[in-house]
Amino acid sequence: MTDDRFQRLIAHRRVVVCAGAGGVGKTTIAAALSLSAAGRGRRVLCLTIDPARRLADSLGLSLAPGIEAEVAPERLAAVGATPSGSLSVAMLDPKQTFDALVKRHASSPAVADKILQNQFYRHVSTSLAGTQSYMAMEKVLAVLKSGRYDLIVLDTPPTSEALDFLDAPERLVEALDSPAMRWLVQALQPSGGFSMRLLARGVAALLLTMGTVTGRGFLEEMAALVGELNELFGGFKERASEVSRAFRAPDFGYLLVAAPSAPALEEARFFAERLRRSGLSADALVLNRVHGAVSEPPTPQALTALLAARGVVVRPEQLLMAQADEHARARSEAPEIQKARGLFPPEKLWTVPVMAGDVRGLSDLAKVARALTQA
Ligand SMILES: Nc1ncnc2c1ncn2[C@@H]1O[C@H](COP(=O)(O)OP(=O)(O)OP(=O)(O)O)[C@@H](O)[C@H]1O
Ligand SMILES: [Mg+2]
Repeated sequence: MTDDRFQRLIAHRRVVVCAGAGGVGKTTIAAALSLSAAGRGRRVLCLTIDPARRLADSLGLSLAPGIEAEVAPERLAAVGATPSGSLSVAMLDPKQTFDALVKRHASSPAVADKILQNQFYRHVSTSLAGTQSYMAMEKVLAVLKSGRYDLIVLDTPPTSEALDFLDAPERLVEALDSPAMRWLVQALQPSGGFSMRLLARGVAALLLTMGTVTGRGFLEEMAALVGELNELFGGFKERASEVSRAFRAPDFGYLLVAAPSAPALEEARFFAERLRRSGLSADALVLNRVHGAVSEPPTPQALTALLAARGVVVRPEQLLMAQADEHARARSEAPEIQKARGLFPPEKLWTVPVMAGDVRGLSDLAKVARALTQA
């Protein structure tokens, strides 16, 4: 039995979301999963976020954000991953998606223009709580509607907590429609004049997190933007809950990625619970960068003889240290992997070994892809 579990995962999904804590390998796993699915005949789009430079280059992502680029089939064939489907990759561009949303919901092109020209719009459209996640969700739905792909694999942005992702639409609407924001708009109404006293402390704190408060001009511009975005709210709020609902549909799957360490597993457990509360379940937990159990280290004499026979000039102590380190890591991960077994049934617990270096090129990715699809 080689890849039944993988086949099962992609059989009923049109979207697979790769979620997990920061730095655990979400981008890597999303790309590897996409590669595997392309090898199974799917037309796949991997929507990725800020991949490491080398990986981006090898995927042909040197293009502008937002552009969908197909990875040349010959390049995939060269690493033994001949696709019977296709693999396209795009880097998410939250601002571009937000712009499209403003244009769609604004009452007129003039209103849309006014918002897009506001100097604080850039900040709100890229850095406000939940924006990146929410825009990723919007992008997925837009691509899905186009019918150009059988499967969309979504890499999620690094968040302080993995479960932030699912709540992103609500959080964004809340942030834009919070009492603090409403206070601000009221306080800076042209008729009401400006009074710092009118600003609740919450507003001041909020503004301080957004950069330097440089005086009245700043606040007025900010208030104008919030007022205008609020005008969009009828449509915007509704849209956010629509997006939330869409991500709870049966053809949306969730793959949790975690390191085989206690904090990462705790977070994965938290996320699995969060999914359950929404009536969803994780398709699998991918334990990434697992150190293999190694056999007992050889004696220095045996190793020296072995190296000499092969003409390798390296100090045996260094090799022994490296092996002892590997051994120690594997031993410290073992109880965590055991714990993960208590959380997920075997067919839903996938492990990916740690590669010799970073996962950079297509051939590294193909190795991760093979680990994903092999039980
Ligand atoms: N199985 C693996 N073996 C070796 N290196 C790996 C493996 N998986 C991922 N890496 C490396 O770990 C680093 C982090 O991986 P990646 O960027 O995929 O994580 P991420 O969860 O997307 O991070 P972020 O939360 O910052 O977006 C990268 O340098 C990647 O090459
Ligand atoms: Mg990433």
